[in-house]
Amino acid sequence: MSLIELKHISRSYTMGERSFYAVEDISLNLNEGEFAVILGPSGAGKSTLLNILGGMDSPTEGELIFDGENIADYNDNELTDYRAWNVGVVFQFYNLIPTLTAYENVALMRDVRANSGKRSVWNKGDIEVMRPEDAIKKVGLEDRMHHFPSQLSGGEQQRISIARAIAKNPRLLLCDEPTGALDTNTGREILKLLQDISHKEGRTVVMVTHNSFCAEIADRVIKVKNARIKSDERIENPKDAMEINW
Ligand SMILES: Nc1ncnc2c1ncn2[C@@H]1O[C@H](COP(=O)(O)OP(=O)(O)OP(=O)(O)O)[C@@H](O)[C@H]1O
Ligand SMILES: [Mg+2]
Repeated sequence: MSLIELKHISRSYTMGERSFYAVEDISLNLNEGEFAVILGPSGAGKSTLLNILGGMDSPTEGELIFDGENIADYNDNELTDYRAWNVGVVFQFYNLIPTLTAYENVALMRDVRANSGKRSVWNKGDIEVMRPEDAIKKVGLEDRMHHFPSQLSGGEQQRISIARAIAKNPRLLLCDEPTGALDTNTGREILKLLQDISHKEGRTVVMVTHNSFCAEIADRVIKVKNARIKSDERIENPKDAMEINW
């Protein structure tokens, strides 16, 4: 079943007299439970597309249907509510709050969702938030729970940011170059975790990367170049994340 449908989505920017497309006329469906990778060179429009999926940016043209709702014309408040209920995000540089412990970082995001109003259109009554300690256990860091980000390695910080993203049980997990700041071994472990979250828990995961080796673990590879989709391929037997090399 399609979780998200993009219909002729574009995002243009105007700089002085000139305007250009960061994303141009993209149409695609993302299925529930799918692990999709968006692959492309720097400047191709990958982050712009991911930000639109996550309600962190809005398209200037087109429709984005998420679970039956067109969010393309949502205002800021509606987008905040959309994100709180549906979207978990993992960034290249983790974006943890330095003055909060790992546990507190995870709890904070979960509370954003838990306190975001029972009357939301997204409240279907069936999405339970996780306890922070359970989310942290899932990423294997229960013994680091009360450390501050500065007391954790890069890979550990990324694990905590994944725990933070999944704690509110999002329908959609978005990752922008999640291994971009990590060495190969640590990166592979992070990819394995994301692959398990999709394949074992059935969660929809969309990961942006410029690294074609990282794309080998996905069910689907969407190549983007010059703001457009160049190809969209299903992978029958994706590699196990622990087997890839770069
Ligand atoms: N807020 C903005 N204002 C103006 N131009 C922007 C803005 N955000 C992105 N762009 C432009 O849109 C294009 C696509 O940017 P985007 O960040 O989506 O690329 P990317 O594929 O994620 O690249 P990278 O791999 O380097 O992260 C680039 O030319 C970028 O300069
Ligand atoms: Mg980017």
